Amino acid sequence: MRSFFDLNSNSEFHLPISFVGCGSATPQTIISNAELGERVDTSDEWIKSRTGIRQRRVIGANESLIDLATHAARNALKMAKWDEKTIDLIILATSTPEDLFGSAPKIQSNLGASNAAAFDLTAACSGFLFALVTASQYLISGSMKRIIVIGADQLSKWVDWDDRSTCVLFGDGAGALAIEASHENKGLIGYSLKSDGNRGGCLNLAHSNIFEDLVNEASHQRGDYLPIRMEGKEVYKFAVKEVPIILGELLEKYNIHSGSIDWLLLHQANQRILDAVAARFSIPSEKVLSNLENYGNTSAATIPLMLDEAVRDKRIKSGDLIACSGFGAGLSWGAALFYWHGSY
Ligand code: COA
Repeated sequence: MRSFFDLNSNSEFHLPISFVGCGSATPQTIISNAELGERVDTSDEWIKSRTGIRQRRVIGANESLIDLATHAARNALKMAKWDEKTIDLIILATSTPEDLFGSAPKIQSNLGASNAAAFDLTAACSGFLFALVTASQYLISGSMKRIIVIGADQLSKWVDWDDRSTCVLFGDGAGALAIEASHENKGLIGYSLKSDGNRGGCLNLAHSNIFEDLVNEASHQRGDYLPIRMEGKEVYKFAVKEVPIILGELLEKYNIHSGSIDWLLLHQANQRILDAVAARFSIPSEKVLSNLENYGNTSAATIPLMLDEAVRDKRIKSGDLIACSGFGAGLSWGAALFYWHGSY
């Protein structure tokens, strides 16, 4: 007997999920490449040519990650035309919570989503995709009907602003998606997730490993982290190798030709990575979504931030097929194929 998931092995069948709303929010403070060049030995020319980034935004004194995430989620709710009381679950993908016990419940409270459970999920730059797939399971099982998935990160907290090899890359932001159980519309086609902890050392935000005396012979580990550390070339090679493989496998599994993709929506880390992946599938640059010149790499926020921008400027229309992939620390990576169904 064929299972539900076997049935999904062709492009005519869709998981019972619709993507119906999106939203985003970014901090007010803009730091240009030239301004960064006043602090570290770098230049606008170097950053633009090696990454495509022109500027990034960082959360300043009068803003917070929770505020941005709440704002993004409210916009997604509005687009989906949902009453906040009808939300069953809020998943916040973040590696930089304001509270290590979890920031999602604070967003739940801000939204007035009194019937929703809320929790954080951490998978660095793949976090949004991992959260989306996690949310999908509740909808597929029939246990929930409406979920808000948020990707929000404040990597500016953890960047060494004197390390030119990393500080030029990152920025802060938040994006959100409203997804619901639906058998009527074309929605999620399929997904794939992967992790490889053996290669995790090439990008991390590791615990400081400092021990302090406690009592007698006992010591305890101080709650403290080191700044982001990255082997840029290794991460680059990982992304341009693994993203085409995982996307290619997904397209093949569901019998979808890359020519049918309306939009390639990748984690926004480096324009050269976007171009390399697009070239592997012969996807023309007009179909490759990119806004990293304005925001840099906002970690879990890049995918929903990009999606929201392209929905609101009416590039992405209801019914468009989106090939999406996220990748980053862990190492972790994933891909999803879905039809957008929101209206704006
Ligand atoms: N400004 C000026 N020079 C810089 C610089 C900066 N911000 N950062 C590094 N350099 C220098 C290096 O010191 C090196 O100098 P050298 O040749 O004299 O030794 C030179 O530029 C080349 O450095 P390299 O690290 O080889 O550059 P690169 O072409 O690999 O580009 C990255 C560096 C980080 C842009 C690139 O490796 C990358 O994008 N990797 C992926 C990172 C990523 O996406 N991370 C997040 C994943 S979620």
